[in-house]
Amino acid sequence: MEVTKITIDGPAGAGKSTIAKLLAEKLGFLHLDSGAVYRAIGVAAKKAGIDLDDESAVSSFLKSLSVEIKNGGRVFVNNVDLTEEIRKPEGGILASKVARFPEVREKVIEVLRKAAEGRKVITDGRDAGTNIFPDADIKIFLTASPEERAKRRYKELKEKGYNVTFEQVLKEVKERDYQDKNRKVAPLTVPEGACIIDTTGKTVEEVVREIEDLILHSK
Ligand code: CDP
Repeated sequence: MEVTKITIDGPAGAGKSTIAKLLAEKLGFLHLDSGAVYRAIGVAAKKAGIDLDDESAVSSFLKSLSVEIKNGGRVFVNNVDLTEEIRKPEGGILASKVARFPEVREKVIEVLRKAAEGRKVITDGRDAGTNIFPDADIKIFLTASPEERAKRRYKELKEKGYNVTFEQVLKEVKERDYQDKNRKVAPLTVPEGACIIDTTGKTVEEVVREIEDLILHSK
């Protein structure tokens, strides 16, 4: 079987983006970060002064947006490159707010499927293997304990120079877990047929190797 679509799902801080990016480089695939598209819509809506708890306001705002993934995975909203800005810690919360709404989810799926056309892709997110690419050849679900995930996220933010405390980050991780698992539309679940990898205590390289083995054995 030729592997052309791989999905990696899991909660915040499980290591999805890091691992998907590395694996994409190694395999020569395009990395599609589905969370980045939710972040971009959340950030753009906030900037426009939209109330993110008002579903109809978000929906009508969405109609005025052109969202694209181009230049090797960068995210553009109305032709403005938001790739860096969406990485601010606030971006994750804004993303999970707009991600509750079905119209936003439909839009994101459309953007991602378009970007994947005719390409080999690794997509990471919360519902990559269930809703975005249910036909993926390989599905992975990455997890780790909330404390371990908060530790990683804390280190990453500190390195980027953000002034946060570990307690704040742990609270944010738990808040997002709750929001993502309990929403009505596309809650975070393990896709059918997915391989679950617990990354607690494992290095990025170890996890990448595990996935590479899975790909080899699927052939
Ligand atoms: O990197 P991290 O896992 O913290 O977050 P992300 O992948 O950038 O996603 C940010 C938020 O977008 C998540 O907490 C979800 O609420 C939402 N999201 C989603 O609902 N479905 C996806 N496929 C990807 C992200």
